[in-house]
Formats: sequence, C-alpha cells, structure tokens
Amino acid sequence: MSLAHPAHVPADRVVDIDIYALPGQREDFHRAWKALQDAALPLVWTPRNEGHWIALGGAVLAEVQSDHERFSNRVIVLPKSVGELHRLIPTTIDPPEHRPYRKLLNDGMALARVRRMHDEIRAAAAALIEPVVPLGRCDFTGDFAEILPIRIFLALVDLPLADAPRLRLWASAMTRPDPPIPFEAGRQAFFDYLDPIIAARREAPGDDLLSRMITADMGGRRLDRDEALSLCTQVLIAGVDTVVNFLGFVMLFLARDPAARAALAGMDFNGVLAATHELFRRFGLVTIGRTVRADMAFHGCTLKAGEMVCVPTQVHGLDETVNPDPLRVDFARRGARHSAFGSGPHMCPGQELARAEVAITIQEWLRRIPDFRLAPDADPGCSGGIVGQVNRVILEWDR
Ligand code: HEM
Repeated sequence: MSLAHPAHVPADRVVDIDIYALPGQREDFHRAWKALQDAALPLVWTPRNEGHWIALGGAVLAEVQSDHERFSNRVIVLPKSVGELHRLIPTTIDPPEHRPYRKLLNDGMALARVRRMHDEIRAAAAALIEPVVPLGRCDFTGDFAEILPIRIFLALVDLPLADAPRLRLWASAMTRPDPPIPFEAGRQAFFDYLDPIIAARREAPGDDLLSRMITADMGGRRLDRDEALSLCTQVLIAGVDTVVNFLGFVMLFLARDPAARAALAGMDFNGVLAATHELFRRFGLVTIGRTVRADMAFHGCTLKAGEMVCVPTQVHGLDETVNPDPLRVDFARRGARHSAFGSGPHMCPGQELARAEVAITIQEWLRRIPDFRLAPDADPGCSGGIVGQVNRVILEWDR
C-alpha cells in the first residue's frame, strides 16, 4: 500500500510510523526505536501526527538538534498544532533571544550548586528506601521514582514539601500524552500557584533558583512576571517526568542484570557518576522536534519551511556507526556519543542535577538492597510520549 505524502518527499523516505506508538514499544521502548533505525534510512517522513520528518541516523539527528540557524525551536512538540500551544521560555526561543534566559538557568544549575545539593538528595533518597528494605518488595515507580525528582525540584526552588502532590498532577498534565487534566488547565493552575510566590520573592529573595532568576540582571532589566512564570514552569516539566522514567528504565535494567548491579556496587561515588554516562547513552528517552526555517536540501531530501523534523534523542547513542555494540551497557566504554541531554544551545541545563539524582539513587539503593529482581506482577510495559515511559517497576528481594 502506498502512503499519501507531499510531492517533494521521495517514496523511499516514507514510513508509516506513529512516533508515540512504535511497533514493539510496549515490550521495549529502546529496542523498538533501534529496530526502526536499523530498518529505515537516516532521514524519513511519516504521514502520522500531521506529517513530519524523523531524523533516525545519529549524525543526522545531532545536526538537526544543534543547528539552530537551519532548525528552529519555535515548535518542538509533535504534532505541530499541539506544539504551537507549548510556548515556554527558553525552550521555544532561538538564539540570540534565548541566551540571556539560558544564562539564568546555567548559573542556577551549575555543577558547584548541584554538588552542594548532594547531601540533600542523598537524605531524600535514603528516607524513601529505608522503609521498604524490610518489606522485601516495593513499587519502585510509585514509592520512589515518582517522589524523588519532585522533592528535588521543590528543594531547588524552595517550595513546601506538602505541595508535591498537586505539582506532580500539574506536571503530568503538561507532559503526558494522556494527561489526568488538560494541558492548559495544568499550566494555568501552576501559574496561579506560582504568581503570589514570585511576587513575595521579589520583595524578599532567598538563595533558591526562583529567587536568583527573578532578581538577576538581564542586561539592565529583570525578568517580568510572565517570563518568570514560563521559565519556572519549564524547569518543572523538564526536570520531573524525565527523571521519573529514566530511573524506571535504569532499575528495570538492573533488576535483570546481576553483573551490572555488582559492578556498580563495587564503585565509589565518582565511579557511579561516570557510569551514568553509559546509562544515559543506552536509555535516552526524550522525543522532541525542530521546525525547518527555510526550504533546503538536506541529506538527499528537500525540506520545506515550516515542516517539522522529529528528534528522537534515544536513537543517537544506539546507532552502531556512532557507538559499537550499542545495545550493550558497558561501563568501561570510553568516548561514547549520544543526545540524551540534547546538543547545541538548548542542551539540558539540568543534566548535572539529573546525573546526581540517578547516581545517588543507584548508590543508596545498592547499599541497602544489593540484589533484587522484577516481581511477577510488575508491569514493565513501555509507552511513548515526549518522554518515553515505563509503566510500573515492581521489585522484590530476599529479606
Ligand atoms: C533524565 C533526565 C533528563 C533528561 C534525559 C533531559 C533531557 C533534556 C533534553 C533532550 C533537552 C533538550 C531539549 C531541546 O533540545 O529542545 C532538555 C532541556 C531542558 N532540560 Fe532536561 N533532561 C533531564 C533532566 C532535567 C532536569 C533534572 C532539569 C531541571 C531541574 C532539566 C531542565 C531542562 C530545561 C530547563 C531544559 C530547556 C533548556 C533550553 O531550552 O535551553 N532537565 N533536557
């Protein structure tokens, strides 16, 4: 059956793929993307989700993601009509306007600041793990992964722990393809919640990320109210669902791989932190896009202004022309390349924080529960979305 496609798209580039519902995705999100990458050309076009390109080859993907002069961040969520609604600072702004906002984030989440948060992250992780150790079983997703990242976000912006449940609800509304409440309702609820907090912090700033962003000098002016709301919302939605699901993929892998558990258990903290690079290469999970700025020839195709190119960051590190034997997790691998945190001007400013959350979780978990397995009633099925998701990782161990 031939699929409908625009005249400028060559027939051999057309695939019938819904990026949010790949064949085989439920069984294994990453292998499903890898199978598509192996079967198709490095740049393909699908009629699904309003019709768009997909960059599947590692080198093509990295080029699209980092070249803001040819590929704009104006719309990055697919399908495009939905992405048009997701206007947030700094994600949907291109350089040079993007730079001053980005500086605020870089300053606020710099490595030195993240290091100062290590003890707090460790205490939060330990407090969640300790109570489940004697039980011999836990729902890792509900008891740990869905709780830690929101607590760390609350600590970063100095908001009360008691607000975690509603912030989680609003964050889900803004990130999940099947949200518990509509996107606009989640965003508005978060704006209404933050507005008085921002006003109060302008009067009496603290040392938290929010206070630092709203009081910083932006070349002779300060962030206005709408900018502050948008920037803070972006940090919430970028920093919660990503870590929740990444932790899920990592624990699912560790539950099935005793040698990897033993290797990580034998490392000091810096070793575990270094090992997270390999885990991010293997288990990247963010699927976003870029908007073509002007008609152009690109890797044997003609791209038209306004078209969307999907950037499934998880496939870059899985390309064997980029990393040999890419499905194997090898903590001794050196010089691996991947795009789990993106590349170019929008590369994740929260990556040091994310690595710290993951490394500390692994260390604190393995210290108390060195051996564990997937429970028979676990539902490790995966689903797609802007962030790939693993449903429910239920773990068991001998008491
Ligand atoms: C598993 C963890 C994480 C992954 C895989 C991840 C991945 C990414 C990726 C791929 C981008 C680039 C988007 C683009 O190119 O358009 C990004 C941007 C961003 N991330 Fe992360 N992220 C993670 C954790 C975090 C955390 C913990 C925070 C903050 C608390 C954070 C905050 C942000 C922000 C604010 C942006 C937008 C940057 C900009 O547009 O300049 N992320 N992230």
